[in-house]
Amino acid sequence: MGIQTVGIVGSGIMGSGIAEVAAKAGHTVVLRSRKQETAQAMVAGLEKSLNKQVDKGRLSAEDRDAVLGRVSATDQISDLADCDLVIESVVEDLDVKRALFAELDAAVKPDAILATNTSTLPVVEMAVATGRPDQVVGVHFFNPAPMMSLVEIIAPLTASDATVEAVTAFASACGKDPVQVKDRAGFIVNALLFPYLNNAVRMLENGTASRDDIDSAMKGGCNFPMGPLALLDLVGLDTSLSILEALYAEFADPNYSPAPALRRLVAAGQLGRKSGQGFYTY
Ligand SMILES: NC(=O)c1ccc[n+]([C@@H]2O[C@H](COP(=O)([O-])OP(=O)(O)OC[C@H]3O[C@@H](n4cnc5c(N)ncnc54)[C@H](O)[C@@H]3O)[C@@H](O)[C@H]2O)c1
Repeated sequence: MGIQTVGIVGSGIMGSGIAEVAAKAGHTVVLRSRKQETAQAMVAGLEKSLNKQVDKGRLSAEDRDAVLGRVSATDQISDLADCDLVIESVVEDLDVKRALFAELDAAVKPDAILATNTSTLPVVEMAVATGRPDQVVGVHFFNPAPMMSLVEIIAPLTASDATVEAVTAFASACGKDPVQVKDRAGFIVNALLFPYLNNAVRMLENGTASRDDIDSAMKGGCNFPMGPLALLDLVGLDTSLSILEALYAEFADPNYSPAPALRRLVAAGQLGRKSGQGFYTY
């Protein structure tokens, strides 16, 4: 039967994007947030995003209604009981995620797969917080999830081959291009990307070049679609800081040691696009 019903936990940037991807691919989706209003706001956000696609002629009104008809919102973990797969996308904090996995384990049916969208944290730590470590994997979507084709499937030591294959097939069914990777901090993309982003902050900090010149140089010189400082704002500076801290904790490589300017922006509540202010003003 494969994966039919998907639960999404966490109503931030990524939870909303993954919900749209799964629902558009024909899955029944249950959105769970800690507050009913936030879960409801996710559905409203999804409707807005789908309406835009209808206006641009990329989606029919009929398909929009069908997608919305497959999505429900709740603040109750117990409403995830019948999901075949639950993907959590809450804050990048291991203690929060471990507690959530234990709670999900008690709530969902025995054969359900539990997955994390973590960017860097050890998936095995979440797996062993459950009574089903063979059914826990990482499924790492990229931001914005509806646009980005890559999904990293992370197999901790504890995961069964059947679980890894089922989630890889789910990502393909969502129209994504999955790659499989071992459970090491940063997986493939963030392990390679974040030293570059962190060094761009250091370069700004030590006055080598201005914000705009650093970003223009990497766009014009490497053909990247956005510069590193704009990309950090898109990812979220708090999430970026957590990613660097997790990478540094794993590898103790100085390139992963967060630039002080990044810490100060986060301390000031300047988190990038989501807060309206980061390296740029939105
Ligand atoms: N932003 C990105 O570019 C990106 C890309 C891929 C993966 N991720 C990962 O996705 C996950 C979510 O990131 P995001 O960018 O959507 O973050 P976000 O800040 O937009 O959303 C975080 C969500 O976590 C919830 N939350 C906060 N504290 C919580 C708690 N104690 N218990 C339960 N829920 C709590 C918030 O209410 C919010 O819904 C993280 O693990 C992150 O590493 C992020």
